Amino acid sequence: MGSRVQKSYGKRRVSCPWIAVAALLLSSIGFAQSSDQTLRGAAAKHDLLMGAAAYSTRLDEEPIYAETLAREYSVLEPESELKFDPIHLQPSTYNFDGPDKLVAFALAHSMKVRGHTLVWHEQVPVWVLYPKTPWTPAALGQVLHDHIATVMGRYKGKIYAWDVVNEAFNDDGSMRSTVWYDKPGIGYAGEGTKTIEQALRWAHEADPQAKLFVNDYGAEILNRKSDAIYAMAKDFVARGVPLSGIGMQLHISPDFDDLENLASLRQNIRRLAALGLEVQFTELDVKLPNPSGFNLGAQADTYKDLLGICLTQPACTLFQTWGFTDRHSWIPAYSKGYGWALPFDENYQKKPAYNAMLKKLHAGGHTGPRPPARPASQSR
Ligand code: XIL
Repeated sequence: MGSRVQKSYGKRRVSCPWIAVAALLLSSIGFAQSSDQTLRGAAAKHDLLMGAAAYSTRLDEEPIYAETLAREYSVLEPESELKFDPIHLQPSTYNFDGPDKLVAFALAHSMKVRGHTLVWHEQVPVWVLYPKTPWTPAALGQVLHDHIATVMGRYKGKIYAWDVVNEAFNDDGSMRSTVWYDKPGIGYAGEGTKTIEQALRWAHEADPQAKLFVNDYGAEILNRKSDAIYAMAKDFVARGVPLSGIGMQLHISPDFDDLENLASLRQNIRRLAALGLEVQFTELDVKLPNPSGFNLGAQADTYKDLLGICLTQPACTLFQTWGFTDRHSWIPAYSKGYGWALPFDENYQKKPAYNAMLKKLHAGGHTGPRPPARPASQSR
């Protein structure tokens, strides 16, 4: 029998009611002011989530990292620690230390957690890629099924949304050749999006309440890749395959920000929204060749314009960057000669991009609720 939990209001008594009322008013004004001056607080007014990718090791190493993350963001996504390779070390050995820490941190700071990622061709362990005896598709399917069930099962009720499948498409819209699809694949080689469908069904079985996404890059605007993703989404929705939405990575440069591209992005979001799906900006960063005043200004405009699009499209439920400080960004290591891609500089100072976003959040945009939190099974 569950007993009702009594709320405790503390032991100190306030004898004069006027003092109590004044204190309450002051504290709520203070709260409103401070929360309005953070990305997460200002975005909450639009029912929009602000996210950042993060690493667990930095939470203790740099207190300001943890403090900035919790203050500014309402969603945390492990940047790498939930990928197959770091957690599923051997066929029956898992190490959840990193993600456990991130999930505990997020929940302690009233943040939601996004899971990234279950089916991807990169960061896959050697025991999967180079088995002693070649996999049969059925045996590899069992591996993937068990991985999804174990990882999602562990975080059931704690991780609210998952990038179930990441980067499954080629730029021309065909399926990428990967260990999961056709080398040897889990049984659907040559059958288009059936591998994705199977992964979504297993994910839905593992956590029926979780929102399930297919995530990719280079499919933000209308092109052959986004057409293929749209066709898949339309088919899945029509057949009741559990898909909640599409993730758009958005690893871009300031030159993304031209009118034609923005119009095309808006149209792409609208066609996905018309299927009843959510769209999330999942890995945004805007890389620069150097931090000149001109470049930082152009970067600020790009962040502002993308946020403007998300704000005005009710289907856009998350605006997330890939990290948040230039001190820790994947860009310098993976795009030689570039960096300075995030809203905070390497000393955790707010950059023009941050200020432009906060201003945009204060300026307006969609204010009603965004698509209600609904499990993938209820997606239309
Ligand atoms: C990157 C991380 O940022 C790096 O720290 C890691 O070394 C490699 O992976 N698209 C994705 C992400 O979906 O998982 C990648 O993250 C960046 C590109």
